[in-house]
Amino acid sequence: MKVYLDNAATTNLSRTVFEAMEPYLFEHFGNPSSAHQQGLAAKTAIEKSRATIAGLLNTKPQSIIFTSGGTEADNLAIISAIRAHGIKLAITSSLEHHAVLNTLRQLEKDGEIRLLYLKHDERGNLSATQLERLLEANERAFVSLMHGNNEIGNLNDIHQFAQVCKSYGAIFHSDTVQSIYQYQYDTQILQADFLVGSAHKFHGPKGVGFLYARNPELIRPLINGGAQERGLRSGTENVSGIVGLAEALKLAQYNLQDHQQHVSNLKEKMINNLISKIPGIKFNGNSGNKRLSLPSVLSVSVPNADKGQSALSYLDQHQIYASGGSACSSKSVSHVLNAIGAATNQHTIRFSFSSLTTEAEVDFAVEKLAGLFVKTALQEVHVLC
Ligand SMILES: Cc1ncc(COP(=O)(O)O)c(C=O)c1O
Repeated sequence: MKVYLDNAATTNLSRTVFEAMEPYLFEHFGNPSSAHQQGLAAKTAIEKSRATIAGLLNTKPQSIIFTSGGTEADNLAIISAIRAHGIKLAITSSLEHHAVLNTLRQLEKDGEIRLLYLKHDERGNLSATQLERLLEANERAFVSLMHGNNEIGNLNDIHQFAQVCKSYGAIFHSDTVQSIYQYQYDTQILQADFLVGSAHKFHGPKGVGFLYARNPELIRPLINGGAQERGLRSGTENVSGIVGLAEALKLAQYNLQDHQQHVSNLKEKMINNLISKIPGIKFNGNSGNKRLSLPSVLSVSVPNADKGQSALSYLDQHQIYASGGSACSSKSVSHVLNAIGAATNQHTIRFSFSSLTTEAEVDFAVEKLAGLFVKTALQEVHVLC
């Protein structure tokens, strides 16, 4: 049995999404900038996809800019907003994804901005009051705080953060890459200036995403060239990818309630099973708290079981696929786990679920993981004898 529990890293492409994309890979393969009918068919598909996404976010189509994924959309929002508004101060948290952190740190290194970090507690909770104090005491700022954390699943109250930012005239960007699979964003209610989506996180294709910009006229392109995306993001469009992105987001948003319920049940089952089978197991951040974390992400630390083998490689050997922290930082110590003090000598595993994950898979993973501890306990008895 192969068990895939790494859906925060990426999800499998949905068959329905692939079927929506297929005509734009074969039949309507034209360049959307071409004036003939083939080009027009591709251009029409892009604009239809833009309108679909805009409708889902309750905004105008011009506010949706297609990108190569979440990283590019984060970069575009951050760099554009800071330069277009002449902003000299940015506020973020050390628990953000590197797409945000490294972009802001580069701007700081280049002397363009000062960068402040909100403090967090040992569970990774941030305070809106602290944000308010910083905004009150400083010049106009750019604020970037994600909705759902990709490693520990913590949910930030972005409605509250956005409101605070609005009342101080600050620009608010939220990396919604992990959360858009399970939450709806009405941009007439949520006062964010920028939101981000990446298709491969919700059963769409890899290499395509979008930026929602409340004021698209303030976008400063990172990639210059032709007039694609109204000159805001040059380069021949990834037509089939864009069609797949819109279809995947539509499916995700239409099935939101069922999906949330499903992954939430799986998470609860896994938490209970892990507690009963692995003594000393810990849940990182707010991961073990249903109300305060993404229902799809469960980050755990298990005691050091077998000195020669990490729990993750043991699971991998049994064809159970999970991550240590995030997939992008799999070769180094996770900055998020480090920041909340969870990167101790314990093994950390991030399990993440999708609509396709089954209870049987979750049970199998817990059973196997628990087996590692039984094995170690037996070895210890043997050594003592
Ligand atoms: C929170 C978050 N932001 C940004 C990204 C980057 O998205 P992409 O892989 O589409 O560049 C990811 C991907 O792991 C993520 O989890």
